[in-house]
Amino acid sequence: MTTYKIALIPGDGIGLDVTDATMEVLYKAGERFGFDLESEEFPWSCDYYLKNGVMMPEDGIAQLSKFDAIYLGAVGWPETVPDAVSLHGLLLPIRKAFDQYANIRPHRLLSGVEGPLKSEAFDILCIRENTEGEYSCAGGRVHQGRDNEVATEVSVFTRKGVERIIRFGFEQARSRRNHLTSVTKSNAQKYSMVFWDEVTREVAEDYPDVTVSHMHIDAMCAKMVMAPQSLDVVVASNLFGDILTDLGAAIQGGLGFAASANICPDSSVPSMFEPVHGSAPDVAGKNIANPIPAIWSGAMMLDHIGEKSAADAVLAAIEMCTSRGIGSQHSQNVTEEITAEILVAIEECV
Ligand code: NAD
Ligand code: IPM
Ligand code: MN
Repeated sequence: MTTYKIALIPGDGIGLDVTDATMEVLYKAGERFGFDLESEEFPWSCDYYLKNGVMMPEDGIAQLSKFDAIYLGAVGWPETVPDAVSLHGLLLPIRKAFDQYANIRPHRLLSGVEGPLKSEAFDILCIRENTEGEYSCAGGRVHQGRDNEVATEVSVFTRKGVERIIRFGFEQARSRRNHLTSVTKSNAQKYSMVFWDEVTREVAEDYPDVTVSHMHIDAMCAKMVMAPQSLDVVVASNLFGDILTDLGAAIQGGLGFAASANICPDSSVPSMFEPVHGSAPDVAGKNIANPIPAIWSGAMMLDHIGEKSAADAVLAAIEMCTSRGIGSQHSQNVTEEITAEILVAIEECV
């Protein structure tokens, strides 16, 4: 039997609830499809920070490098630890250290889920650049007296970084409906976004079978609401992709439905899987978080490690539940109830 080593970082808030729910489902999928998940849990979180003064130990990345994949719940508890400390101490360094440059976020209505739009069905795959751009941590603050203080946040776009994410997007488009939308703000930003457009045009020459649209981020936001069915693969920079994917989550029914994968295509380092949402302090500890995006992200992990049939079955089980209205209810103990229904549905999907 194949055994996969999974590093679990439940993190903070609802991250703890949804990680437990996901692993229950994934272990069940392993039983049904004949593979083993050997998981090790790491308590790295804001609580860990309050006790140890760091979000993860100094050799944290080295520890994670021994695993086949990383599963993360959510990080952040702004009431006790500033986000700039927690996210820059755990989530963002992992994405960067393992060069997980493609953040894949699917946005579609699961069967039976009614989103806020009265639109036709849509199926968007957002590919977010995940290692550079607006998240490069370049810049600083210059103090020349309070009134003249200046803060800069420099976006760094490299040819290698832009080319590989655009190419990744084209490959995805080729396996889907052969359309790619590249999102920039090249009418206002003179350097980085013009560069992004140029690289996109160059890479497009290798994919004559894929049609390309160039959109500005503002118009793209409107399009995602007005005509989401017209979109296939959407490629965007780190910050634009971050914002667009919460919008994508909203049109698919809310943050309680959006899954994601942080992929490094080089299989010698682990990729990381996590729902799009955060630690949701307003619902944490109440057993009312929807575990669907976390479980869907778990299915993406199974697909990535090579267990495609199991991944398909987990997604089918999720949709079997949503088609019966499970996942959209707001009763007590929703986390446990939805998980239990998905566990039953997995038996039916095999
Ligand atoms: P959030 O995604 O945690 O919550 C936004 C809203 O969506 C809240 O009202 C929340 O209750 C709701 N929501 C989110 N997931 C839900 C689910 N599964 N079921 C039901 N409702 C759900 O965003 P936020 O409030 O801006 O951030 C809270 C903390 O999480 C902050 O510290 C933030 O930095 C962090 N964060 C972490 C990640 C991550 O770890 N990947 C992602 C986003 C935000
Ligand atoms: C996400 C989150 C993170 C991001 C934050 C918490 C740093 O919003 O994964 O979408 O911006 O990447
Ligand atoms: Mn986000």
